Amino acid sequence: ASTTATSVSISGDISSQLHGGYHHPLARAWQAERQLTKSMLIYPLFISDQPDEETLIPSLPNQHRRGLNRLTAHLDPLIAKGLAAVILFGVPINPGVKDPHGRAADDPRGPVIQAIKLLRRTYRDLFIVADVCLCEYTSHGHCGILTEDGTLHNALSVERISDVATEYALAGAHCVAPSDMNDGRIRAIKLKLIEAGIAHKTVLMSYSAKFSGCLYGPFRDAAGSVPSFGDRKCYQLPPGGRGLARRAIVRDINEGADIIMIKPANQYLDIISDAKELGKDMPIAAYQVSGEFAMIHAGAKAGVFDLKTMAFESTEGILRAGASIVISYFTPDFLDWLTT
Ligand code: PBG
Ligand code: ZN
Repeated sequence: ASTTATSVSISGDISSQLHGGYHHPLARAWQAERQLTKSMLIYPLFISDQPDEETLIPSLPNQHRRGLNRLTAHLDPLIAKGLAAVILFGVPINPGVKDPHGRAADDPRGPVIQAIKLLRRTYRDLFIVADVCLCEYTSHGHCGILTEDGTLHNALSVERISDVATEYALAGAHCVAPSDMNDGRIRAIKLKLIEAGIAHKTVLMSYSAKFSGCLYGPFRDAAGSVPSFGDRKCYQLPPGGRGLARRAIVRDINEGADIIMIKPANQYLDIISDAKELGKDMPIAAYQVSGEFAMIHAGAKAGVFDLKTMAFESTEGILRAGASIVISYFTPDFLDWLTT
């Protein structure tokens, strides 16, 4: 009865026999270099300057814009389930708050600095990342200060961005993450953190390779950061620009970044893998952005696939490419789905 099995092994074709290595669920888990765990996840929060606001964002399933008074009721149960880290985005709604210089970005009474302080005093172990950009606060909606011709003024923008980053760190953010893409901002932020005496306790996470494209729409709905004219193609990277991304990654490593981030994630897995190669001694983060998240929800709703299965498959792809940190709107779901 066993002649067939015997003849396979006797024929010597042993390398073709792979199934045994992943028959059991645990053996399948062992096939991955990195297992998804709760500590890898960073959850994005949109903080409104309207203290009692709690608004569902229609284009971003299950995600809300919340005021300070609504934050802890939302976070308490997530903390209890093992939420480790959040990234904060400020959303100024009050009329007249936006100006050409984005002065509200580091207003000590503004939503981000107030939220950093609230979260620090409420949750001893929660890791707080502050996204640093001006587009939510500028009247023109671009990620810096503009020259007269409507292009970014690099020196002024870097000066302003690095001031804002330092104020967030001084307010208690464990990590500052500039998403503006102005040239040279990593070095400028690092120098100001050193000057302020907090470089030793502040993580500098660079959105190094942030590509322009059509995947940020729901975020811009949430944050109210659509540019009033033009687009971001002259500072965010062109989707085909792999070499440019590699240069930006190397540049930011040399300027003192502690973590390199790639964004979006699933459309740019080769770039994540490049980042892991170029920054082999540092953690690599990937941002599965609003458009990716919304697309997965839409696919599941259309019956193309199961939501949970795709949430895992897309995230496991990001880890396989080389990331060990994932910024994900699925974080609350993963806290339910994962045991560790
Ligand atoms: C702002 C910023 C954006 C995102 C993170 N920081 C939007 C943009 O560049 O227009 C996108 C995140 C997402 O889509 O989930 N600089
Ligand atoms: Zn921006």
